[in-house]
Amino acid sequence: MRKTLVVYDSYFGNTEKIALAIGDALKSQTDVQVLRVGDVKPEHLAGLELLVVGSPTRAFSASPATKGWLKALAPDSLRGVKAAAFDTRVALSEVKSRVLPVFVKLFGYAAEPIAKSLAKRGGMLVIPAEGFFVKDTEGPLKDGELERAAAWAQQIRARA
Ligand SMILES: Cc1cc2nc3c(=O)[nH]c(=O)nc-3n(C[C@H](O)[C@H](O)[C@H](O)COP(=O)(O)O)c2cc1C
Repeated sequence: MRKTLVVYDSYFGNTEKIALAIGDALKSQTDVQVLRVGDVKPEHLAGLELLVVGSPTRAFSASPATKGWLKALAPDSLRGVKAAAFDTRVALSEVKSRVLPVFVKLFGYAAEPIAKSLAKRGGMLVIPAEGFFVKDTEGPLKDGELERAAAWAQQIRARA
């Protein structure tokens, strides 16, 4: 059976919910594990066909634990592994700040840099990086985001 790993970080549980929804949607076709980034061991990467990595956006970037884990992966460790990246983020429409949109435009979110990091280690990106929205810093997720995550995962499944 094909082996899939969904790696996530989460402070308030929102990214975890998205990761679990993605894992559920991928489950029927592959052997899926959904693990918090701190729990991933080298053996989890052995024989992997698909790796999905997600993080809450923290200061326009992935969480420190996610960045540290990605950085520690050997240069060619994802050679031949299909890959996808996602994040959770606050919708700009919910933020009452004039400067934040400028910073977001300049610095972005977590998913893109995660995707770049996966590709740098040999991962083959099968879908554009995706962001899922929370209503406020600690959540909850915006309505429909779990369903959107499942649909995103179905697209991965179709391409992987
Ligand atoms: C210190 C801190 C920095 C954050 N920075 C950003 C940011 O740059 N952009 C953004 O969209 N959301 C930002 N957020 C909101 C997080 O993305 C939000 O808390 C996260 O999606 C919740 O996911 P979690 O429940 O899995 O931790 C920040 C939150 C905190 C607490």
